[in-house]
Amino acid sequence: MPNLRIRRTAGALGAEISGVDLSRDLSDETIAEIRQTFVEHQVIFFRDQALTPERQLAFGRRFGPLNIHPYVAGMADHPEVMEIIKEPQDKVNFGGGWHSDMSFLEHPSIGSILYAVELPDYGGDTLFASQAAAFEALTPGLRATLETLNAVHSAGREYSASGHSAQKRSSMNVAEAEGATGEFIHPVVLTHPETGRKALYVNPAFTMKIEGWSTRESKALLDFLFDHCRGERFTTRFAWSPGSVAFWDNRSVWHYALNDYPGQRRHMRRVTVDAWPGVEAKTGADRLAHAR
Ligand code: SIN
Repeated sequence: MPNLRIRRTAGALGAEISGVDLSRDLSDETIAEIRQTFVEHQVIFFRDQALTPERQLAFGRRFGPLNIHPYVAGMADHPEVMEIIKEPQDKVNFGGGWHSDMSFLEHPSIGSILYAVELPDYGGDTLFASQAAAFEALTPGLRATLETLNAVHSAGREYSASGHSAQKRSSMNVAEAEGATGEFIHPVVLTHPETGRKALYVNPAFTMKIEGWSTRESKALLDFLFDHCRGERFTTRFAWSPGSVAFWDNRSVWHYALNDYPGQRRHMRRVTVDAWPGVEAKTGADRLAHAR
């Protein structure tokens, strides 16, 4: 039987798991316990791991098929492994703003597994914010209204020439999407398919507007939500060491890679899980939104 030790990292979300070597072929029982801890705590952390790209892929595949990012080139031999690198001369980091990964897709990814290869001497932490806790902190009246709404998501702003994500970095090959991104509709409130817990599913990077509302009307509500959702009481913060792993649930968690280590190198590898086997992807990503 697995012998995992679990320590919570903050009140709203986050748990550090010890007593497991992710580079090994783990038993189904161990994977089930990791998965249970993941859905319960929304983001899980491991330390002192030694993952080659192949072993990170093998671990990720135990949770579902892996995503190949449409705009960020993966490793030559392993297109599902994205190298997130900031070189000393780079000004802009990747992921340096609140977002949930891949909400701009018709079927957004459910989770991301990030492994730390090389870190700056200081800084470079990642923040996480529970969008389930943020939703639960709203009044019943607003919660009920939000549950009736859908939102339009797109990579168009972030992956445009002026977008944060598409900015040139020395060691990353990131494409400018030049408008060819599509827009997809997702509910403003997602019900987690395994826990039944509801979470806000809008984010500052990829949510463009509320379906059926004008841009101005949408901005008023989205600005309120974006301000609310990053509240400190909903967050946890992870200070990485080489060999650390974070695995977060994109259905209910925002994250933010801090850019507070100018002149230093940071090198991470990410694999991104598209769907749980056997669990319907209930992101509500059901139709292409037409340009408005
Ligand atoms: C990401 O947004 O996936 C990057 C997070 C990080 O580098 O800490």
